Amino acid sequence: MLVIKLLIAASAMLCSAGEVPELEEVYRSGDDGSVLPSLEQLRHQYRNTEFEVEPRPDLTGLSGMWKRSENPVNGDLETYLRCQGSATDAKTRQKWALQAAQALKALHAIDIIHQDVTPRNYLLNENLDLRICDFAHSSFPGHSSTTGASGSRYQLCAWNKGYIPTASDDIFSLGSVLYFIMCGEEPYSDLYEDEVEHRFASSDFPASDHLDCGTVIQSCWNRTFTTAEEVIQALPHDKDVT
Ligand SMILES: *[C@@H]1O[C@H](CO)[C@@H](O)[C@H](O)[C@H]1NC(C)=O
Repeated sequence: MLVIKLLIAASAMLCSAGEVPELEEVYRSGDDGSVLPSLEQLRHQYRNTEFEVEPRPDLTGLSGMWKRSENPVNGDLETYLRCQGSATDAKTRQKWALQAAQALKALHAIDIIHQDVTPRNYLLNENLDLRICDFAHSSFPGHSSTTGASGSRYQLCAWNKGYIPTASDDIFSLGSVLYFIMCGEEPYSDLYEDEVEHRFASSDFPASDHLDCGTVIQSCWNRTFTTAEEVIQALPHDKDVT
């Protein structure tokens, strides 16, 4: 039986604020492939084939997803915070923390694991609302990963070939994204990747007590939280933020 599944692939990694990845809706057909291929791979594979595109499920309608009609005037989160971090207030950071988690909740709810949850893959629109993008590495649950993922600062350990990522791996990465949102630095930004990998593997995470959401961050890293909903519940909501 032909299984048709939806994927949204970003046409390219977002390299700088100036390069806007246009999300395109394509379908993967067949039930043999495990990891959603990138749009480039699909184009190559189906050079002479018309894609069948259906509007459901419409990822772009989900909260927290990048929408084609939106303009990422404020670029990606990483670049934005590196350039404007000092001008970013606590309330905005709280909003982003919540939106970062809500986007993952929406994705996981339709059984998509992002696998590359980093500040680079969140875009900011004109209202400074955070949207997740770049589904090039995404997979459906239960399928092994064939691509390198987000990097040692966003993973508990290196993924071996055949490793099957889960939604909780996205939540671990979310911990590192929240850390970046709160302090403008990646975890252990002063250490080499190898050293970070080693420390994370032995559950040695950077201190975050001094940061807003510090305990939420630790809870993502130490596996107390394994779902986006738990993170959302633990984060301060708009009404709590003064
Ligand atoms: C994980 O971190 C949270 C927040 O700091 C803490 O309350 C919890 O005890 C930790 N759990 C483990 C298993 O270390």
